[in-house]
Amino acid sequence: MPTVYVLNGPNLNLLGQRQPEIYGSTTLADVERDCKALGAELGLEIAFHQSNHEGAIIDLIHEARLKAQAIVINPAAFTHTSVAILDALNTFDGPVIEVHISNVHKRESFRHHSYVSLRAEGVIAGFGIHGYLLALRHVAKLVG
Ligand code: DQA
Repeated sequence: MPTVYVLNGPNLNLLGQRQPEIYGSTTLADVERDCKALGAELGLEIAFHQSNHEGAIIDLIHEARLKAQAIVINPAAFTHTSVAILDALNTFDGPVIEVHISNVHKRESFRHHSYVSLRAEGVIAGFGIHGYLLALRHVAKLVG
């Protein structure tokens, strides 16, 4: 069964409590549960992780090189700042899908630029947590 790493960046551990008017009231544990349920339906093994630390996310991307066929990533604020995460993703051979819960283009201008988009096959933004599930459905077509 193909394995998909679903990676989440800083502050997403507070999903459900953090600015619910922007990010909604669902928790990251709910997102993990929904991703795993859909993964089972689609025949994908889901490895779900969150870290507030840039280096830890890079280590997970390196791990994905050996263990995963695709990456779905919400890099959170590192989207807009991290050349190092872009470089790590460029070492990964399979598809990469970038997900944002909010519509970053409707928000502050510093959120309009993404380093990760230079690597991503596609970007999903503004569909709330449903974006993760849309990304997995697309990934299933690519690696399933
Ligand atoms: C986010 C958007 C980012 O700009 C922000 O820093 C986040 C979450 C989103 O999912 O909408 O932390 O990636």
